[in-house]
Amino acid sequence: MKIPFLDLKIQYESIKHEVNPAIQNVLDTTAFVLGKSVADFEKAFADAHHVKHCIAVSSGTDGNHLALWALGLQPGDEVILPANTFIATAWGATLCGATPVFVDCEPEGYNIDPSNVEQAITSKTKAIVAVHLYGQPADIDPLKEIANRRNIHLVEDCAQAHLAEYKGKHIGGLSEIASFSFYPGKNLGAYGEGGAVTTNDDALAKKVKMMRAHGAEEKYIHQIYGHNYRMEGIQGAVLGVKLKHLKEWTDRRRTAAQKYNEMLSHVDQVKIPVEKTFAKHVYHLYVIQATKRDELQQYLENQGVSTGLHYPVPLHLQPCFKGLNYKKGDFPSSERLASNGLSLPLFAEMTDEQISYVADAVKIFYHK
Ligand SMILES: Cc1ncc(COP(=O)(O)O)c(C=O)c1O
Repeated sequence: MKIPFLDLKIQYESIKHEVNPAIQNVLDTTAFVLGKSVADFEKAFADAHHVKHCIAVSSGTDGNHLALWALGLQPGDEVILPANTFIATAWGATLCGATPVFVDCEPEGYNIDPSNVEQAITSKTKAIVAVHLYGQPADIDPLKEIANRRNIHLVEDCAQAHLAEYKGKHIGGLSEIASFSFYPGKNLGAYGEGGAVTTNDDALAKKVKMMRAHGAEEKYIHQIYGHNYRMEGIQGAVLGVKLKHLKEWTDRRRTAAQKYNEMLSHVDQVKIPVEKTFAKHVYHLYVIQATKRDELQQYLENQGVSTGLHYPVPLHLQPCFKGLNYKKGDFPSSERLASNGLSLPLFAEMTDEQISYVADAVKIFYHK
């Protein structure tokens, strides 16, 4: 059996009858940049996350930048973020000219460990970015307590966690400002690049809205610095259709993860993901830690199962951050995850048969 890591085609086939007319409508109305489809999506996405404002932008990376830029981050400032995340979390800081300061994750939930944050704070620290990695919310309350006490901004990177919940509340409105990605493979994916910034703060929302469109509210009058970070009309139309299915797709992801858990929990060589008691995990990725990870990955490939590594090199060991003088051994949990972590295929349309095939292949690998 061939099992892809992700099957975007099967999802497209299931919503083609809704998404094609929505795209056609953008073509017919020629509202190619922002426009009604994007405005409607912004409203629906904000409502879905119970947050006051959603500003649709051109990518999650641009959202990371805008969130910190709108908070006033500048050269000389430091931004604390986890060592185990996608590089774009750090680009949010570097695009403002600020310096990323990495901290280790907690070994169970894989999110930034609040107990490591305090010691990374200096007089230059201006913000903490909590990433809800793999779809599981970070432990926001202790981070908020530290941020408030030390007068530092708290930001969420929600790129992997649409509709995830922390203590019964949706992510995206738990901090001052948050960013989302709609890269095609995300739980809510566009048909191209896309992202969003969400916030409950009226002034920040107004600023981000201006910044995404050249710092202007009124055409050709540029009140503040900005960029071209606007969402395309076609992406707004696609996302508006797909958002209506997101809850059901998320439930199916959770069911698939549960099935993997049941089948793999007794395999000694495998550590299955832990859903924290405060979290509703949306399983953007189902990441196990596995003994002989590379051999297992090759074996699964030979059995027709595609897997992924998220992420093989933690940020503090990336060549681009050499100048920050981190070294191997600085962040053991992140480094362990980089060497042992393996993402198994998981998508909403996965069948029980496919899940069993993957889990059985993992078991056979360890008992052959
Ligand atoms: C944690 C995280 N942050 C930011 C991004 C950036 O999003 P995009 O690819 O839409 O720029 C991603 C997406 O890959 C991500 O996984």
